[in-house]
Amino acid sequence: MSSVIATTAIRGRFLDIQNTVAQARDIHDQVRYVEDGLVIIHEGKIQWFGPWREGHSRLPTDLELQHYPDQLIVPGFIDTHIHFPQTEMVGAYGEQLLEWLNTYTFPTEIQFQDASYSEKIAEFFVQELLKNGTTTALVFCTVHPESVDALFNAATTRNMRLIAGKVLMDRHAPEALTDTAETAYIDSKALIEKWHGQGRNLYAITPRFAPTSTPEQLQKAGQLKAEYPDVYVHTHLSENKNEIAWVKELFPEREGYLDVYHHYGLTGSKSVFAHCVHLEDEEWDCMHQTDSAIAFCPTSNLFLGSGLFPLKKTWDKGVKVGLGTDIGAGTSFNQLQTLNEAYKVQQLQGEKLSAFEALYHATLGGAKALSLDDRLGNFNIGKEADFVVLNLNATALQQLRQSRAKNIEDAFFALTMLGDDRNIAATYVYGAAVYVKAAASE
Ligand code: GUN
Ligand code: ZN
Repeated sequence: MSSVIATTAIRGRFLDIQNTVAQARDIHDQVRYVEDGLVIIHEGKIQWFGPWREGHSRLPTDLELQHYPDQLIVPGFIDTHIHFPQTEMVGAYGEQLLEWLNTYTFPTEIQFQDASYSEKIAEFFVQELLKNGTTTALVFCTVHPESVDALFNAATTRNMRLIAGKVLMDRHAPEALTDTAETAYIDSKALIEKWHGQGRNLYAITPRFAPTSTPEQLQKAGQLKAEYPDVYVHTHLSENKNEIAWVKELFPEREGYLDVYHHYGLTGSKSVFAHCVHLEDEEWDCMHQTDSAIAFCPTSNLFLGSGLFPLKKTWDKGVKVGLGTDIGAGTSFNQLQTLNEAYKVQQLQGEKLSAFEALYHATLGGAKALSLDDRLGNFNIGKEADFVVLNLNATALQQLRQSRAKNIEDAFFALTMLGDDRNIAATYVYGAAVYVKAAASE
């Protein structure tokens, strides 16, 4: 792990969400906007946060203060579903889920049996996350343990909190991408022992989705989860109508798609299911009862033509939800872009996604979905100091629009509609600036 500078401090404009009460979609009263604020960081954690006028006398005289007078500082973005090996195949033309997997995804993922290839893409991937202000992500690797080592090594050098795991897949995929029920268990167990809780790294048991695992493999995955209840489960669920029909054919003995995972002990408060576009009512109930979480991936759902995710239902049903880019089916690493499309997905269903709810999903809501809200998601004292410095005026059009912004809510809304990686001025991980944008815009 790279060294952590003992105490640093940052002055600027801060915006975060303090908390939410489940089922309260209007989170205005939880918004905290400190126009001239100060955060003091000690050994990677927030030691003090509040208005500058109340905090500046606490600063040690020899401490170097970073001041961002014109920017907006928000908690680091949290991406609750992304595939690092699919970085290079983002934007692959023309197919929906099942054909897209066979045509583009599987051939791409085969390359990750080569450790040096894995390392090269892992480095690129982690840099790309940071360049987009994403400080924590829940990540699919490939079936190859080498891919997991590569990713956790890249995260470790930057002190970054990542959750990741080896894909489990023992059928309906090319030979070079399959394991067995037994090797999936053995390899995952070794990786859990090696990485879970090492530095900021956390492990997720990662069956790709029900169609590519035999019942024997899912049973082994459940056994592993029972042995390591603290690790995560990360998979896909109810993304595409043909996929759902296929699961019903493959598992006729189960009541539905989610019941396949539930039956094998794979639901729970540390289980994250990507997509959930077409859940049945009983499945929403099961998600709630088991405290399982959803990763909402709007750019992916639109790109693959999967459907419109009913975000409002997560509030109505009391189900945790985070925001996912789902690279490479998703089309951007950037959470501002992802929020842009999340907004439009709601518009198409006659619903509004407010700017503050959007900020919530990209930060504290994501932390809650990952059961990390005791450590991440806002500027509360004691939390880990991961945050993003946003330049609201990265282009001439943004400058014009921001000059007309009515208030901070409108300014943040406009940022989510117009913004992308050009707006990320700096990214801090565990109190250290791990990405700083070069002066000239690209
Ligand atoms: N379902 C199973 N595998 C995948 C994948 O790689 N991407 C997406 N979007 N859905 C999946
Ligand atoms: Zn995915």
